[in-house]
Amino acid sequence: MKFDFRIITLSLTIGTLVFTASCEHEPDIVGATPPVIENNCDPDSVYFETEVLPLLVSSCGISGCHDAGTAEEGVVIRDYASIMREVKAGNPSDSELFEVITKSNPEKRMPPAPRQALSQAHIDKIEKWINQGAQNNVCADDNCDTLNVSFSGHIFPVVQNYCQGCHSGSNPSGSLSLTSYSEIANAAANGSLISSLKGINGYTLMPKDSQKLSDCKIRQFELWIEAGTPEN
Ligand code: HEC
Repeated sequence: MKFDFRIITLSLTIGTLVFTASCEHEPDIVGATPPVIENNCDPDSVYFETEVLPLLVSSCGISGCHDAGTAEEGVVIRDYASIMREVKAGNPSDSELFEVITKSNPEKRMPPAPRQALSQAHIDKIEKWINQGAQNNVCADDNCDTLNVSFSGHIFPVVQNYCQGCHSGSNPSGSLSLTSYSEIANAAANGSLISSLKGINGYTLMPKDSQKLSDCKIRQFELWIEAGTPEN
């Protein structure tokens, strides 16, 4: 049997063209993935909407870095779809996102110096989320407890996750550092904390350029302030 090399060459060419075209016009499949809402929240699961997204937006998606307007190196950190361009589900070591937050060189690491690196606890959380399949998941009950609100159990973790990306380091946003009990208690005492969480009294809504915290989380701040900002 005689091979017709013209046909083989032609089909190879078409194959290459189709392949190339499909790379260039990759459909935004992940963008269309709706969030998976879980009602029975598993304490061992890391939830994208309440744990990963706010942390990444506050640490990386800020003006001058990877917000929609700046997009350093074409990377935007804004929502699930944009974050998934840097993530390989189930495989942290093959995920650009994980690689850049764990680089040892502070100039190459994200966020780069002089900004602080993400804490080890936050890095672990992102690694766990990727290992768990990097889902667009959300925990419906938001673990919201308004009976036993404490600084260490409720207030500080929210501030770490939603605020410290901007309000820490040598040049914190709004000249306001929120990394210690006394700094947070001080912002509570002068009214700026609750005003910014609600976006009232002339304060910009915080976390800046993100979704407002859930009503329940804001209520937890109010209850903690009403109780006299205990360091508990
Ligand atoms: C993406 C960056 C960013 C995040 C995240 C962020 N902030 Fe801010 N914050 C700012 C900037 C910038 C200002 C300065 C005012 C402005 O630009 O509107 C500011 C101002 C403030 C102020 C007013 C300071 C003053 O006295 O004028 C408070 C209070 C505040 N933020 C609290 C918070 C809290 C609480 C969170 C977390 C729930 C948070 N911020 C998250 C960027 C951020």
